[in-house]
Amino acid sequence: MKKALSLLVAFAMALSLVACGGSDSSAAGGSSAAASGSGEATATAGVCWYNFGDTFIANARNTLNEAAAADGTIKVVDADSLNDVATQTSNINNFYTQGVDYLVLNNINNNAIAEIIEQAKEEGVTLIFANTNSPTDEEFAMYDKVYHVSSVAEQSGTIIGEALAKYWNEHPEADRNGNGKLDYIMLLGIQGHYDTEVRSANSLKALEDAGIETECVQETICNYQRAEAQNQVASILQARKDDIDAVIACNDDMALGAIEALKAAGFFGEGEYIPVVGVDATANGVEAIKEGTMLCTALNNPVTLGNSVYKLMTVLEKGEEPTQENIGIDGTTVEGHHIYINYVGITADNTEDAAY
Ligand code: BGC
Repeated sequence: MKKALSLLVAFAMALSLVACGGSDSSAAGGSSAAASGSGEATATAGVCWYNFGDTFIANARNTLNEAAAADGTIKVVDADSLNDVATQTSNINNFYTQGVDYLVLNNINNNAIAEIIEQAKEEGVTLIFANTNSPTDEEFAMYDKVYHVSSVAEQSGTIIGEALAKYWNEHPEADRNGNGKLDYIMLLGIQGHYDTEVRSANSLKALEDAGIETECVQETICNYQRAEAQNQVASILQARKDDIDAVIACNDDMALGAIEALKAAGFFGEGEYIPVVGVDATANGVEAIKEGTMLCTALNNPVTLGNSVYKLMTVLEKGEEPTQENIGIDGTTVEGHHIYINYVGITADNTEDAAY
């Protein structure tokens, strides 16, 4: 019944897309991408991204919408949660009212995973958690139509921590105040976001595993945003400029903000070098590695994320369960209802590996 309704909706949307020249706005405030591929869409997916303005999310979103537009099996309608839990909840409810078949959730309501699954079950909608922490085994057991597509956060923390450890061991002058400790600033993403918690913890663990003593000069939440990081680092530098040996940023945008602040305070170029590490390998992040300001990043591939989510839905549409073979996307590991996306460490030695 729902499928039949979706077919009708998809057909109506396809007509309106022709009239509007390929784009349309959804009731949930986002955009839709549909059937320009071989046939008519057989299902609709409502996608809640946490923030359209986030660089990484913008890339993943484009990829997913392009995949839907090229293939046409599944119509994708998306909405912006504006980094706000209440907006996310209202977007989810709008999608259920619209009768979607799939809900793709870049979840920011970490305290409500069980409730979110319960609601999807009541609605009979397949729920795909994307770029967020995984439900627990108990939560998966609540409903057989729950899936999870995300990168393996632990890897990214380890990659950047190990790069920092290598630099520290090869550069005695990196201990700027000579206290024998690696004094760092930690730039965190959104409060409680899984990636930020795991990246920060694992980067420090890698330093500890390498036998390096560390000291936190300041840990600060910058919401994955470049401007916030720039402001925070600028003010930390005013107070503790001589005590900072490194900046660990939980994404490239924040690393780039830190680099701007460091440049303004006289570092880099003719000035002293301070290692800054980030995560994502965004285009600007990779440029910073090439220019010699950022030491290392970990490629978090948004194209793989967008394509994996779309491929998963097409596989499920065929009545199959995901396997390594039928998902068939490089850089992913399929395990049960999980598609894990692997990170790749990027330094000045292999910037070409960051291309996507
Ligand atoms: C990315 C960040 C992004 C965040 C948003 C992370 O996986 O690395 O750049 O801001 O997801 O959810």
